[in-house]
Amino acid sequence: MQKFLWWQKDIIYQIYPLSFMDSNNDGCGDLRGIINRLHYLEWLNIDAIWLSPIFESPMVDLGYDITNHKQINPIFGTMQDFEELLAACHALDIKVILDYVPNHTSDQHSWFLESRSSRSNPKRDWYLWKDAAENGGPPNNWLSAFGGSAWEWDEKTEQYYYHAFYPQQPDLNWRNPMVQDAMFDIMRFWFDKGVDGFRIDVLWHLIKDERFRDNPINPEYEEGKSEYHCFIPVYSADQPEVHDIVVKMRKIADEYNDRVLIGEIYLPIQQLVNYYGLEQRPGIHLPFNFQFILCPWNAFEIYTAINDYEATLPDFAWPNWVLGNHDQSRVINRLGISQAKIAAMLLFMLRGTPVVYYGDELGMSDTPIPRIPDPESKQFPNLGSDRSPERSPMQWAPFDNAGFSCAKSWLPINENYLSFNVETEAQHDNSMLMFYYRLMELRKEEAALQIGRYIPACQHGNALSFLRHWEDRLFLIAVNLGESDETLTIPDQLPVSGKIVFGTHPDSFGRKVSQQINLKPNEGIVGRLIYERGFYE
Ligand code: GLC
Repeated sequence: MQKFLWWQKDIIYQIYPLSFMDSNNDGCGDLRGIINRLHYLEWLNIDAIWLSPIFESPMVDLGYDITNHKQINPIFGTMQDFEELLAACHALDIKVILDYVPNHTSDQHSWFLESRSSRSNPKRDWYLWKDAAENGGPPNNWLSAFGGSAWEWDEKTEQYYYHAFYPQQPDLNWRNPMVQDAMFDIMRFWFDKGVDGFRIDVLWHLIKDERFRDNPINPEYEEGKSEYHCFIPVYSADQPEVHDIVVKMRKIADEYNDRVLIGEIYLPIQQLVNYYGLEQRPGIHLPFNFQFILCPWNAFEIYTAINDYEATLPDFAWPNWVLGNHDQSRVINRLGISQAKIAAMLLFMLRGTPVVYYGDELGMSDTPIPRIPDPESKQFPNLGSDRSPERSPMQWAPFDNAGFSCAKSWLPINENYLSFNVETEAQHDNSMLMFYYRLMELRKEEAALQIGRYIPACQHGNALSFLRHWEDRLFLIAVNLGESDETLTIPDQLPVSGKIVFGTHPDSFGRKVSQQINLKPNEGIVGRLIYERGFYE
């Protein structure tokens, strides 16, 4: 029998450590805070946590600008705290995945300080330095994802350096074997400590065109979209040589037992699947599939996205699904409460590893940040950044600071915390938390829902349905993505007979399921079906 690994069956939960739980009342979440709340994750049936960066950093990009990849940022605690967290998680059979940021470092990292000190410094070539263009301007037209040119002039050595993100995040030169060695050494350091995997930051950016050619103009650029999209990044990202690096990373992970590599890659599915590598030369295990964040939310688009993805994945590749992360507006704000429930049903009922962003299980929403950015703030210079709303503190309880901290929190608490918090929601059967809880519980109990085959059934109007099959277990999932009643007729070659075991509308539980499925507005159902041999093999 095919062997399924933990990262295929498990539910991964993303923790943004600054915002999860504050144990020392400085207003910032920390590692001890996470340790103190592991019982919640255990109760929720979470099998693995991914921590956004916890390493030494000036926090210009809140930890994605690292000065020492092997040290814990004191805001979060100490190495001993981390080791305790790892041991505590493992004792509960919860895996720990760390963020690995290979594309760039902080401009305060000793490597970059050396690199920028002179043109002849041995580390000069660890980063991407170029002479000015003939007109004195940047060497080419590449833009930073965070605005403006991606090139920053260095007065002292009179060259530009490249930064795909903030100027304080210079890109490493991954064509330099010494950079590769140094960065691979960091992976081994954490694997040796026992971490179970990495989420790899902006993996598709690692290698740039060797000739630094200009990116072509994007003819489909729409006014109002971020300036970054004026050009198509054909030369600054997703270069063929990146796959050699991906294969090397995988080899390192494979030196250890049972580790996982997840890649952050924003690319269309056809390009995304290349990051799985080839069966004989595998790449990473899970290139993030962001379709539920990026696709228009209607049944046609979503059904097409699911089926295209299933059809494009190589046989050896395992799918994954995500509704949110620390860079995206919360799912509740994008879809509203009713459709956030439908999205959760797809997340847990589709074939593939689900990744949950902390607080989405409570229905947490984006929190307006009234403060204007404070460039003087040494601790968090980008506090007012566009992405702060989705990073507000976890809402634990209906009292001061939502039970996150006894002090004023680093970002404001959402004012809906009195109703949307763990303690209150755990007592209300119809809360988002209990909805998540039951969905996850159902998934845990049924191999068909974890590892079973995906069988597309049909889409009509704003509703879609599919089946999951494993051995003699068969489930039908049908969801209505709209505000009107919908009727789905399941094709006769897929005989459907059973009853509803879960859904958005508890009054439907126990109702019969047959070829014709009537769905109320915003309704989703899971039916357990009688398995008829001969039809589903
Ligand atoms: C990734 C991270 C994002 C960060 C960027 C640069 O996209 O998710 O938060 O700002 O990389 O490191």
